[in-house]
Amino acid sequence: RAILLRDYRAPDYWIDKTDLHFSLAEEATDVTAELMLRRNAEAAAGAPLVLHGQDMELIEVAVDGRPLAPREYQLTDELLTLPQVPAQFKLTCKTRLKPAQNTSLEGLYKSHSMYCTQCEAEGFRKITYYLDRPDVMSEFTTTIDADRSRYPVLLSNGNLVDRGEGDGGRHWVRWHDPFKKPAYLFALVAGDLCALDDTFTTRSGREVTLRIFVEAKDLDKCDHAMASLKNAMAWDEKVYGREYDLDIFMIVAVDDFNMGAMENKGLNIFNTSCVLAKPETTTDAGFQRVEAVVAHEYFHNWSGNRVTCRDWFQLSLKEGFTVFRDAEFSADMGSPTVKRVEDVSLLRTLQFAEDAGPMSHPVQPASFIEISNFYTLTIYEKGAEVVRMLRNLLGAAQFRRGSDLYFERHDGQAVTIDDFVKAMEDASGRDLGQFKRWYSQAGTPVLEVDGVYDAGREEFTLTVSQSCPPTPDSETKLAFHIPLAVGLVGEAGPLALRLRGSDSGTGEADQGSCVLELTKPQQTFVFEGVAEKPVPSLLRGFSAPVKLHYDYSRDDLMRLMSRDSDGFCRWDASQQLGVAVIGDLIDRYGKTGELHREPADPRLLSAHRELLDDDSLDRAMVALMLRLPTEAYLSELADTVDVEAIHAARQHLRKALALALAEQWERVYHGNCSDEAYRADAGAIARRSLKNTALGYLALREDDNSLELCRTQFEQADNMTDVLAALACLVNGTSAAATAASTAALAAFYQRWQHEPLVVNQWLSVQAGCVAPGGLARVKALLQHPGFDIKNPNKVRALIGTFCNQNAINFHLKSGAGYRFLADQIIVLNRLNPQIAARMTTPLTKWQKYDPQRQILMKSELERILIEPDLSKDVYEVVSKSLR
Ligand code: ARG
Ligand code: ZN
Repeated sequence: RAILLRDYRAPDYWIDKTDLHFSLAEEATDVTAELMLRRNAEAAAGAPLVLHGQDMELIEVAVDGRPLAPREYQLTDELLTLPQVPAQFKLTCKTRLKPAQNTSLEGLYKSHSMYCTQCEAEGFRKITYYLDRPDVMSEFTTTIDADRSRYPVLLSNGNLVDRGEGDGGRHWVRWHDPFKKPAYLFALVAGDLCALDDTFTTRSGREVTLRIFVEAKDLDKCDHAMASLKNAMAWDEKVYGREYDLDIFMIVAVDDFNMGAMENKGLNIFNTSCVLAKPETTTDAGFQRVEAVVAHEYFHNWSGNRVTCRDWFQLSLKEGFTVFRDAEFSADMGSPTVKRVEDVSLLRTLQFAEDAGPMSHPVQPASFIEISNFYTLTIYEKGAEVVRMLRNLLGAAQFRRGSDLYFERHDGQAVTIDDFVKAMEDASGRDLGQFKRWYSQAGTPVLEVDGVYDAGREEFTLTVSQSCPPTPDSETKLAFHIPLAVGLVGEAGPLALRLRGSDSGTGEADQGSCVLELTKPQQTFVFEGVAEKPVPSLLRGFSAPVKLHYDYSRDDLMRLMSRDSDGFCRWDASQQLGVAVIGDLIDRYGKTGELHREPADPRLLSAHRELLDDDSLDRAMVALMLRLPTEAYLSELADTVDVEAIHAARQHLRKALALALAEQWERVYHGNCSDEAYRADAGAIARRSLKNTALGYLALREDDNSLELCRTQFEQADNMTDVLAALACLVNGTSAAATAASTAALAAFYQRWQHEPLVVNQWLSVQAGCVAPGGLARVKALLQHPGFDIKNPNKVRALIGTFCNQNAINFHLKSGAGYRFLADQIIVLNRLNPQIAARMTTPLTKWQKYDPQRQILMKSELERILIEPDLSKDVYEVVSKSLR
């Protein structure tokens, strides 16, 4: 059942033109496809035509206008085979679909009253029989015929070329896309939609119409997406020299959507959660996500559409590169350090866990059963880190030359990761042979670093060993080519660097940073002229996606926190200090089963006090450094997760910080309240982040004053960031007064926002994340609430996803009831929406990280899922791989 990279063969037929006709009606949609087929010159003369297709009714198939008799073709659940066809011909295929019954949200489906499509990766085969593979690129013409009053807006890719009236209140439109594309980039939308319009003039002076389509009630939530789009268009011209190529660029917001968004040519389709934003309904994180996803999909127009993937093993070619592009864009639009820290946190918490678990795979996988399961953190985020390393190794100028060469050389083609790296090699003259192992070897490399200072010789010697643990794809690994950015930090700050035999590293001495290039299992680097014992600042800017171990003392970490010039390393030092201090408490809890009066390391308290007292520090940096390592990150670091100890230790430390720094929290809270109108810029976001961090600590005091602060902020704030932060404090409070306030607040919140699904999702999520005992019962009750709908992926993620991934103390119940609950939901979702079902399985697949009793309970739920009749490929792949 597995598909292998090494089995790739070019297709036997090409489809030069694709002419689609959709007749939309409530009971069924009829599709007529006319395909101009041509045999590949490399294919055998008598090669049969084998088309993909599933979940639809075949009405008729004709060759050059002659309908075929059933004995002239073979039809299975997934394939339509025509054993004998001419070398060049027209294939006509009529199919009938049931979009209203399509709960998989793949192919053509209905969301509320609108029709929409999701074809990546292999959804087009649910629309018509086709060569549904990305190396088959075709020129599409699409005609849509529908009832005029229900579906006044009819959209597809490219330019509108014709339209007309039909009988019985129907109308039709025709779209033509002049750019050849694979079927996964096809899109269709039909509905009663409103639009926000704007224009963008490209660098070469062409005016492009920009149009964001939404349901009427959401028209007031499109401004941020539009501004983000225009910024992204200008940025791609400036930074990558890429211009938009059609006369119109459209975005459509859809409430039922499996992923974030989709880059269909000229017609991006978005999850409402990634396009709608206004201060009253959307948090700061939501605003930033809209900006990032709008940019991401727009950037795909070049990195994905103009140059696409040869096959799905090349997925990171477009996704890794595009995530890197959108991350740099977001960094330029906001705070670069905050963006970097957020991305690294995600990678180290979730991608590292993925890479250490049963679904671990290389950035270029060698096999898969269901490609939908490979839209992963590894393909996206680690893939982006690999591109970032290339940029850092080559430097910005050479990297840009490589990118220009890649786009120029491969415009209009379906290519491979090798082609991308080759363009980088050709443009820079560098040999990237060893570097390419990042694409083919899975697992997170580990660097053991040792530093020795020789005061007499004024030398500091770093010894670096690299290794990589075994993963399902390979037991042993060859050495990676790893750029390790380092600096040395003295008593007063960064020291100038002089690296002996500088061919082993490239220095930018003025910035006190240099990049050591690791290529062997062990290497030594000597810095000369080091007049005082330094603390090394390692992996600056997170220069490579690795785990790095260095035996820092807590005083070393405090020096880095206050003196390092690299923002990432300053933050990371604060995390390492937090991990160490929480680690003490975890050990203690492990021994005694409680932490009642356990003191926390005073160094952490004083480090936080310094951060809070020093008004000269950048607020964004302070807000980041005050964030304690999350339970998820602490779990990732542990060999065996002690659920109760991690939770108790972190909560204990939070309480200790709340009490010890009570005055500071109060001062910082009030000092960062602001009367200014809401803005989603970096400065205002940092201010709110710091204020709400302070509120979180104040709330832990559980006294009348702090409760009143939360209640007032909840009632009076004019933006969702502040409302939700206050609500979370109330919901997680434990006093009787807090519980009463929480009940009232939740009711008021629902009452006010029940007609805004995205806000209701936040309401579900804040309750699902509540760490007070009884979480499972609360979540089960919410499954029955009218605000929940298991067919809507955003709601599933908000309620079930938040509970199972971000509320460990309630999900990992010793009884196994949390696991049973999740398996029950997966079994339901398997039939409705296999992609979402497979995704929800992740927490159970991490069973090896838990104690023997929990392992047994988790595995038995996986086994229960595995024997389900009609298990989808999606769920089968994840569950079977996690049990092997
Ligand atoms: N290409 C889209 C993006 O990253 C993701 C869509 C994938 N959809 C899916 N159902 N697998 O922007
Ligand atoms: Zn993408």
